[in-house]
Amino acid sequence: MSDYLTIGNVDVGGLNVLVRSDLNVPLIDGAVADDFRIRAALPTLVGLVGNGAVVTVCSHLGRPKGHDPTLSLEPVATHMSALTDLEVGFRQGGQITVLENTRFLAGETSKDPATAQWLVEGVDLFVQDAFGSVHRAHASTVGVAERVKSLAGPLLDAELKALGRFVGDPDRPYTVVLGGAKVSDKLAVIENLLPLVDRMLIGGAMCFTFLVARGIEVGESLVQDDMVEAVRGLLGGPHGRKIILPVDIATGSRFSEDAERHVVAVSEIPEGSVGLDIGPETGAGFWELIDSSASVFWNGPMGVFEWERFRNGTEHVARAMAACDGFTAVGGGDTVAALRLLDLDGSISHLSTGGGAGLQLLEGRVLPGVAVLERWVP
Ligand code: 3PG
Ligand code: MG
Repeated sequence: MSDYLTIGNVDVGGLNVLVRSDLNVPLIDGAVADDFRIRAALPTLVGLVGNGAVVTVCSHLGRPKGHDPTLSLEPVATHMSALTDLEVGFRQGGQITVLENTRFLAGETSKDPATAQWLVEGVDLFVQDAFGSVHRAHASTVGVAERVKSLAGPLLDAELKALGRFVGDPDRPYTVVLGGAKVSDKLAVIENLLPLVDRMLIGGAMCFTFLVARGIEVGESLVQDDMVEAVRGLLGGPHGRKIILPVDIATGSRFSEDAERHVVAVSEIPEGSVGLDIGPETGAGFWELIDSSASVFWNGPMGVFEWERFRNGTEHVARAMAACDGFTAVGGGDTVAALRLLDLDGSISHLSTGGGAGLQLLEGRVLPGVAVLERWVP
C-alpha cells in the first residue's frame, strides 16, 4: 500500500485546513436519516479546531446532475452542529465551515484543474479523511491533493490499517462473509480474497447465482445469468472448496414484506417462490464458523433485513460477529445499518465508513485518493 503522512505532530495552529470527509449520508424529507458517517468524520474536525486550525470541510452527497437543492449539504451541516458544541457554519462562518456539495461543481467528477484550484484557494493544508470516497479520482479527492500539501486524516488512516489486515497477514482462521443482491459487485473481491481466506460464506440474493452454478433450481429468486459461468469457475477452481453456500433458504410466495415465509432445503425451493433470506440451519452453521474465527470481514446483508420476517439470517450473522473474540470488521452502508438497527454496532472491532472504497481495497486495487498523498512524503 502506498505511503502517506498523517496529522501526527504537524502544528496546524493558524493554518487554513481543508478536510475532505465522506458526508454522503441518506436524507429523508430533507433531514439526515443515518448519521454514522457524520459521527465518524467529526473527531478529526474537532481535533483540528482544538489544535488551532481554521477548518473547512467538503464532501459530495448523492449523484446530482448539476445543482439539485434536494442534495444540498445544509441538512448535514445542521445535523453536525447538533452533534458538537462547536459552531458549524454552512458555506461561511463557524469554527467548522461546511461547503456545499462538491458535485454541484461542474468539474468535480472530471477532476477539472480549475475546480481543484478553486477548492484550494487560500488553503494551507489538505487533510484527506474521506475513506468512503478515495476510490474516486475527483477534484475534491485527488485534484486538491495534487496542489497543496496533503495528509491522511485519522479516520482514513484507521480504515486503511483495519481493512488492510484482510489483505495482509490476518490471524487465522480467517473468514469472509459476503451478501447483498449482486455477484457482479463482489466478483473481484471474491477472486482476490479467495486464495487468502480459510472460508468464504455466501448469503444474500447473490447466493442464488452460486446455487444455479451448482445445478440447483431456485424458483423466482434473483439470479445473474451472465455471472453463472464465472461463478462455476470459482466453485470448480483450486479454492472452490472454501466457498460455503446456504443449505436452507427462507422463501416467500412473492417479493413482498408480508409474503408468507417458508423454510426449505436449497434443493427444494418451490417453483414460483422467491428466496428472501438464508434459512436457520444456514444461520447456525455460519454462526459457528464466524464465532470460531480469529479474523472476520463482513459486507452485505444475508436477506431482506429491512423486512422483519426475513431478518433472521442477517441477525444470526450480526450476533455471531458481535460474539466473536477475533478481529471483526464490517463494511457497506446496508450492513452497518443492519448492525445499528440491531444495536450491535458497539460490539464490532471496526465499522467501516466505506462501501465501494472498502471493496476496492480488498480487491487489491490502488485507491487514487490515497495514492496521490504519496507525493507529499519526503
Ligand atoms: C459511497 O457512498 O459509497 C461513497 O460516498 C461514494 O459515493 P459514489 O459511489 O457516489 O461515488
Ligand atoms: Mg466482539
